[in-house]
Amino acid sequence: MIIDSIMLENYRNYKTLELEFDAGTNILYGNNAQGKTNVLEAIYVSSTTKSHKGSKDREMINFDSDEAHIKTVFLKNDIRYRIDVHLRKSKAKGIAVNGIPIKKASELFGIVNVVFFSPEDLNIIKDGPAERRRFIDMELCQLDSIYVNNLINYNKVINQRNKLLKDLYYDSSLMSTLDIWDAQLEKYGVNIIKRRRQFVDELNSIIGDIHSRLTGGAETLSVVYEPSVSEEDFYKTMISNRDRDLRMKLTMNGPHRDDICFVIKDNDIRKYGSQGQQRTAALSLKLSEIELVKNITKDTPILLLDDVLSELDSNRQNYLLNSINNIQTIITCTGLDEFVNNRFNIDKIYRVVNGIINSEN
Ligand SMILES: Nc1ncnc2c1ncn2[C@@H]1O[C@H](COP(=O)(O)OP(=O)(O)OP(=O)(O)O)[C@@H](O)[C@H]1O
Ligand SMILES: [Mg+2]
Repeated sequence: MIIDSIMLENYRNYKTLELEFDAGTNILYGNNAQGKTNVLEAIYVSSTTKSHKGSKDREMINFDSDEAHIKTVFLKNDIRYRIDVHLRKSKAKGIAVNGIPIKKASELFGIVNVVFFSPEDLNIIKDGPAERRRFIDMELCQLDSIYVNNLINYNKVINQRNKLLKDLYYDSSLMSTLDIWDAQLEKYGVNIIKRRRQFVDELNSIIGDIHSRLTGGAETLSVVYEPSVSEEDFYKTMISNRDRDLRMKLTMNGPHRDDICFVIKDNDIRKYGSQGQQRTAALSLKLSEIELVKNITKDTPILLLDDVLSELDSNRQNYLLNSINNIQTIITCTGLDEFVNNRFNIDKIYRVVNGIINSEN
């Protein structure tokens, strides 16, 4: 799959922009704060409805405007998909695929798959569990529309249940309502746990080899799913912890507390890994993500590399660049020097200056 072109109107620091991409490697280079990441963000919004940094819709609209447009054209098996995203300051966003408005965000998932790689992703091993859950969720949401629905419903139910736990403090007559939310939470929660377990299994079948090659055979990496509570024990645990939840006024167990552990030579590298080990494992994770999307969708994702090359030593840079053959890639960087030493094929070079982009080849 490839992105053919993008048009922006009043998006971040772009008044208007029209850009065509090569099916191979595209570079957007320029000084800091010129708008390189904004282009990648707009591509990400077109394929997932959300900003990769979790920005709100109104933050993505140009300061001087009330609305913004992102229009992208993707090609998948020679079929054209035009995706129009209309962001509005005080209303929900509108999205249309080939001119037909979609009702649910999940209708967009499955059309386009992007893998976004930014310097922050290199911290995923040492970050908190929330970041690792976000990684799994963003990935599964792109790959599995049933998962999206389970996750949306689970989050709704957990908010309702937490609200009820607070209300029950003042009004115990509402207790029977808790049974209803518990049953709902179990239904959606168990589906999420099962799918995450399967995802980690799939990841494990890929990441070991990649990490071993990346470290010249010195290390093998494996990933372990750490559910806050297993699918079998979910309901039982919720019931036996009910008093504690009522005291805390919070749902303490469930997929919203899951984590994944990264293990090298029997050591949990979240706690015991060196900084370099953690970053290399994070790179392995990202490269596995590409392979996983390929396996599941039988197609190549679009790879967005936001300023990560400068974060890697030349060995890891080479490894990364060599493993992205045959994948459309859009790379941002501040200078072109990084590529001079790499005998690396660039198909399109764009220079970004203050919200204006010009082709240099
Ligand atoms: N809603 C908005 N309206 C107008 N300008 C915005 C908006 N949001 C962000 N900007 C501007 O966009 C610029 C940042 O763009 P971006 O993050 O794409 O930069 P960059 O080229 O990736 O820089 P770096 O190399 O530092 O990562 C900043 O100058 C910022 O003020
Ligand atoms: Mg940037």
